[in-house]
Amino acid sequence: TTHEEIDLKRYIRNIPDFPKPGILFYDISTLLRDADAWQLAMGRVARQVAPWQPDILAAVESRGFLTAAPLADRLGCGLLMMRKPGKLPGETISHTYDLEYGSDTLQIQADAVKPGQRVVVMDDLLATGGTLAASVALLRKAGANVVGASLLVELTGLGGRNKLDVPVKSLLSYED
Ligand code: PRP
Ligand code: MG
Repeated sequence: TTHEEIDLKRYIRNIPDFPKPGILFYDISTLLRDADAWQLAMGRVARQVAPWQPDILAAVESRGFLTAAPLADRLGCGLLMMRKPGKLPGETISHTYDLEYGSDTLQIQADAVKPGQRVVVMDDLLATGGTLAASVALLRKAGANVVGASLLVELTGLGGRNKLDVPVKSLLSYED
């Protein structure tokens, strides 16, 4: 088999009722732990993201860190962390967003982005789109030119990409 023929979906495992009853969890652990499949996945994501010519990737804590770091290395661009509150030293910029129940906050360092820098947001998975929409809003507060969002997995049935006003590319999509 050539690399192009490998179906990466075989490496993503579904776990029912995690983290809550009724949720089907798409587990990338099984992709990460297979050296060949992981290399192949990162190569394909790099080819999707390269045309956007990012200056820097914005990695969403925590699983986005795993996908963004190897991608930044392949593309030869920088990396910034979007973290849960209280983890980043120095001056920070925050963005709080609503969840189904309650709210969540993401932070970046205030000097993480230079005005107008081309930024691509990277996360492992797009579900409702709440996390990614908040990431884009936060990066714009910091002066970024957000040129795209990149995911390993997209759950298209939840319509998350409709919450986003930037181009979205995902490696693997699932309708349900
Ligand atoms: C998961 C996933 C995405 C987000 C997608 O992260 O890694 O970041 O949810 O969901 P959404 O599109 O509905 O916002 P999670 O909050 O489970 O945390 P983790 O990455 O730290 O494991
Ligand atoms: Mg996450």
